[in-house]
Amino acid sequence: MNFSFSRSDFPEGFLFGTATSAYQIEGHAFGGAGETHWDSFAATPGNVAKAENGARACDHYHRWEEDLDLVAGGNFDVYRFSTSWARVMPDGVNVNPEGLDFYDRLVDGLLERGLKPAATLYHWELPSALADLGGWRNRDVAAWFGDFTAAIMGRIGDRVWSAAPINEPWCVSWLSHFLGAHAPGLRDIRATARAMHHVMLAHGTATQVMRDLGMSNLGAVCNLEYAQPADQSPEAARVARIYDAIYNRFFLSGIFKGEYPAEVIEGLGDHLPEGWQDDMALISQPVDWCGLNYYTRKLIAPAPGPWPGLAEVDGPLPKTEMGWEIYPEGLHHFLTMVARDFTGTTPLHVTENGMAAPDRLADGSVQDADRIAYIDAHVTALRRALAEGVPVSGYYVWSLMDNFEWALGYDKRFGLVHVDFDSLERTPKASYHALAQALSKD
Ligand code: FCB
Repeated sequence: MNFSFSRSDFPEGFLFGTATSAYQIEGHAFGGAGETHWDSFAATPGNVAKAENGARACDHYHRWEEDLDLVAGGNFDVYRFSTSWARVMPDGVNVNPEGLDFYDRLVDGLLERGLKPAATLYHWELPSALADLGGWRNRDVAAWFGDFTAAIMGRIGDRVWSAAPINEPWCVSWLSHFLGAHAPGLRDIRATARAMHHVMLAHGTATQVMRDLGMSNLGAVCNLEYAQPADQSPEAARVARIYDAIYNRFFLSGIFKGEYPAEVIEGLGDHLPEGWQDDMALISQPVDWCGLNYYTRKLIAPAPGPWPGLAEVDGPLPKTEMGWEIYPEGLHHFLTMVARDFTGTTPLHVTENGMAAPDRLADGSVQDADRIAYIDAHVTALRRALAEGVPVSGYYVWSLMDNFEWALGYDKRFGLVHVDFDSLERTPKASYHALAQALSKD
């Protein structure tokens, strides 16, 4: 099976990439990295499938050269990776030279292969020493993050092609402090409100630090989920709008408009930190691009209980291994909506899109036609937005290779490359080969 598109269907300069994150692939036990809140979260019974963690992961820390060869061999232009705070500053304060050296080698390795390094500063593994001080609930997290930004970008900032401070602020705050599904596993509305604002403040602080270092091409990466009312009732429409405000509009609005949606301010009430309004200028300083991570939609229905008074309902569409409905129209919706309501002419990149599939290695190959179809449908939706004039500049597949899928452990395989988690052998799947062909520059 092949893709219905090829590179020549896109405007000159349109970029294709693939993405990973530090804790999910590197092997956190190696290279002097410090303990993170994901290690202790995973060590707590019931939080992560099979109590798996990122201690070894894909051993990318040692196998990075082979992995970068795979990125280059897939004919990608960009590699989106993240830098582990606890690898660079194991105790949250002092710098680990081995950590800086690792990212230095990685960036040079990318440049040597003709690939653009796209760095994300934080993809979720907070040093435990900072979690002990309250982590994202503590306003000081923004200044600590500024120190980390200065340390890592002081070393690689001269060579990265782009940088974004934080991957998916919704996950860092709501998923981790309200739903309790990710580290630190809290379920507390006050902690959530503080984390939501502090993650924005950390975004602004890091952006400022990087500007002061003379860096350019700085962005923000938000995850978006299409919120569909579960039925025709006005109540379902009302709560779907609240879901949309919390999930999709809060962070975009903070960064691109310097304000938060009224529905969320109303719902969070006094839980937002006092004086939050004074931070909005720092939070909404200009960025050069906006990244959208998109996977699925959710059907939303009213539910009893306090704000936000909503629940997700099982939907009828075909689903991926994650149980996520496949809804490419949602990507078209978000590209047009984000450009219209938030970003205007600022370039958009789809910084993550992909699916977990029940991949099986048989006779040395993985036939993942479902993944090819998923990516093809989403790229088609993207091309529709492009044809309508939306300034989309890039599309990145999540993920280069199978990895530690957070609370779901190693069972959910998102990779274009299969990883055997016993031998750590990498085997490119059919989707990888098909993409390499579609993206060929010849
Ligand atoms: C995104 C995360 C990424 C991965 C994918 C499936 O929300 O950024 O690390 O878990 O989902």
